[in-house]
Amino acid sequence: MEERLHALRGQLEADVCIVNGENVADGAGITGKLADKLLASGADVVTLGNHTYRRSGIGDYLATSERVIRPANAGSWTPGRGVAYVDARNGVHVAVINLLGSLFLDTPQSAWEIVDDLVDEARTRAPVVVVDFHAEATSEKVAMARYLDGRVTAVLGTHTHVQTNDARVLAGGTAAITDAGMTGPHDSVIGSDEHNAIKRFVTGMPTRLEPATGDVRIEGVLVECDGDGRATSCTAVRVDVD
Ligand SMILES: [Fe+2]
Repeated sequence: MEERLHALRGQLEADVCIVNGENVADGAGITGKLADKLLASGADVVTLGNHTYRRSGIGDYLATSERVIRPANAGSWTPGRGVAYVDARNGVHVAVINLLGSLFLDTPQSAWEIVDDLVDEARTRAPVVVVDFHAEATSEKVAMARYLDGRVTAVLGTHTHVQTNDARVLAGGTAAITDAGMTGPHDSVIGSDEHNAIKRFVTGMPTRLEPATGDVRIEGVLVECDGDGRATSCTAVRVDVD
């Protein structure tokens, strides 16, 4: 990302760049130093997920960060904020909301209970509202996109690492993709060295996973929208790095 993101932003003419960075620290969690590197590399906002607090010290960092956010439903007592407000390069105000799905994740609070209030508040402050819905189940991610259709600019799924073939703009003008994919080594089992990942499944025993190295790609999604925040296109992005 340090080598490629600035150029990729220019190539895509991206006015704002949101990076999900929850596993940037060797495949598990994030540190303040790495979050700062992502911001310096061209990310305007860094979102997180179920591995937010894996690394020590990140809570203190999140408590004071306005651009590195954790899921808004991560629990009342966890440090950090769940919404970021930034100005895009073209001057448009953008809100980014990070939420965790309920299915198959140990989520403290249902996203469905709080999403309406979060979106209502964000829309009073920014015409463009992007939701990173970090969730395991495709059904929940598709349901959230349709639930918010016409109320936000985009609902972008993250967490499952495999880019889905459904980037689209819904009838109400909300861009959606079930999973934006993974930036990392694709010669792997969703980023981990396949030997130990397979061993874990075969034996059923706890097995330490190591990051893989081969077939590195940057994956994501490019969303275009009008001045009112209504999406006009949604395209999956995939760049081979090595
Ligand atoms: Fe995750």
